[in-house]
Amino acid sequence: MQPQITVLDAGGQYCHLIARKVRELGVYAEVAPSETRASDLAGRKGVIISGGPSSVYDPGSPTIDPALLSSGIPVLGICYGEQLIAHLLGGVVEKGEHGEYGFAELDIIHGKDAEANSLFHGVEGPGRVPIPVWMSHRDLVAKPPPGFRVLARTATCPVAAMGSSERRLYGLQFHPEVAHTPCGKTILANFVKDVCGCVADWNPARQIQAIEDHIRQVAGDGSIFFFVSGGVDSTVAYTLCLKALGPDRVHGTYVDSGLMREGETEFVRASFARLGAKAFFVEDARERFLAALAGIVEPERKRHVIGEKFVEVQERILESEHYLDGRWILGQGTIYPDTIESGGSAKADLIKTHHNRVAGIQKLIDAGRILEPLSSFYKDEVRAIGRQLEIPEELLDRHPFPGPGLAIRCLCSEAEGSPQRVEEGWILPIRSVGVQGDSRTYRPVLALETFPASEAEAAALINRRTDVNRVLATVYLSCPMGELRSHVAHLTKERLDRLRRADAIVRRLTHDSGFDRKIWQFPVVLVPLGTADRPDSIVLRPIDSVDGMTARAVRMPEELLQQLTGELAAVEGVAGVFYDLTNKPPATIEWE
Ligand code: XMP
Repeated sequence: MQPQITVLDAGGQYCHLIARKVRELGVYAEVAPSETRASDLAGRKGVIISGGPSSVYDPGSPTIDPALLSSGIPVLGICYGEQLIAHLLGGVVEKGEHGEYGFAELDIIHGKDAEANSLFHGVEGPGRVPIPVWMSHRDLVAKPPPGFRVLARTATCPVAAMGSSERRLYGLQFHPEVAHTPCGKTILANFVKDVCGCVADWNPARQIQAIEDHIRQVAGDGSIFFFVSGGVDSTVAYTLCLKALGPDRVHGTYVDSGLMREGETEFVRASFARLGAKAFFVEDARERFLAALAGIVEPERKRHVIGEKFVEVQERILESEHYLDGRWILGQGTIYPDTIESGGSAKADLIKTHHNRVAGIQKLIDAGRILEPLSSFYKDEVRAIGRQLEIPEELLDRHPFPGPGLAIRCLCSEAEGSPQRVEEGWILPIRSVGVQGDSRTYRPVLALETFPASEAEAAALINRRTDVNRVLATVYLSCPMGELRSHVAHLTKERLDRLRRADAIVRRLTHDSGFDRKIWQFPVVLVPLGTADRPDSIVLRPIDSVDGMTARAVRMPEELLQQLTGELAAVEGVAGVFYDLTNKPPATIEWE
């Protein structure tokens, strides 16, 4: 499908969000590198230039083909995109020292030129009160280029919005694509529909026929095999292939690493049987994974060993099933954000290295024997397609679950220690991972004796104490805090089973109460802190997020917490229950 809108990626984490928001308006949009030639954009109804972390004055900073700005195609520059338009057309961009991050009040300037203001139609309510918008920038546009009018300002941005209705070029210093800019959707709709004249004809669920045709065309006479994870993307991709080619020509293998949640293998097996899969195999690799992980404590080392094991197991399957001979094509559940290689999507690189390391799979990719039927869709669109295919909601609405599984939620330790009393509570002798700036931290955690009065109080505590990267509330202890000890602990079946039981309790109760639908993810973590007969404790980490890049800790209803704690305290070997109150940043979502 030819996109009506192209989003030029200037390196910002928001470029996919912009394209997603445009698609939510019913207009098909794609992301392309910022330097894409104007001639390659012919036929687009509009172009949006994304934000990015650079300054237009940095050597080698992202730029665009200047011809785009005189091509007649409407262009909207957002943040860095606005600065780039100003810089290229003779406006003034001022270098900022500290920048501005957070809410600002937007003042729309009403001029005679009603056309120029079309971007802000319907944004203001009666009384023309200032409008909240989200800012995240260092440099700013101090003076628009000749021929442009200032459309809006804030206390710190003299050119918070600018436009030339004649040339159909616009710029916004703030981010209309984020939820923190409530009027953002209206502004994007005004640009896409009124300025560009796009037609709302995009509905992912109506693409199923075209996807199936594509699958049949790529497969030819061949067959397709998948390594499925039980996650949404690979399940939907598999189901589409099943529908297009029939169950005899689509194989699926699920690798049971022993690091999955309780009942997961049975759940995946039953789900695929219900979807009509005939050639579905489970590879039992539990003992091999556990043996490889024996004695390993360091989080990144765990990930490395697990990655290596998956490679080894997959290589063996490729060989034993003869998947490398000419008749087979590798099917994958890759989705759109994973396919773009750019400064803004580090995740793509991560996924790539993971796959590259399986030599057999790389061979198939190099030979073009790969099929990724969902590679132009976003997650929400994949869910919409899944719903249309009548894949059960319980599968489509699953929270994300990390590839290394429970291994990174089962903390290990090589040292012994005891909690240290400090003014605010206790410093626990266990370390977790956090993020500060661009680097990861590995630090102890602070446990408060009870919940603080407010979310802000927890955030203030973590900003004050730089020796920790998380703050927890203590929910339950089987003995006084001072009697708990951390101890030497590794990844054993016994500890993984303990974590599996605790995780299953949390999943059951949060599902029954409906709490799981109010949050984005809920890691349950086992930490080696306890007593001789109850060696471990449980940490609850419910969070809300949009994409996992940032996250907010969420408090659950008191009644649910009481019920959960009662059941968790009864799990064999559990000495305590804690509740993680830390946002990301400074903590990560996972503890490792
Ligand atoms: P963090 O802990 O980095 O997590 O805040 C962000 C999101 O990524 C998931 N995650 C992983 N997923 N392999 C994965 O497939 C991993 O090694 C991994 N580490 C974290 C995490 O569950 C969250 O959704």
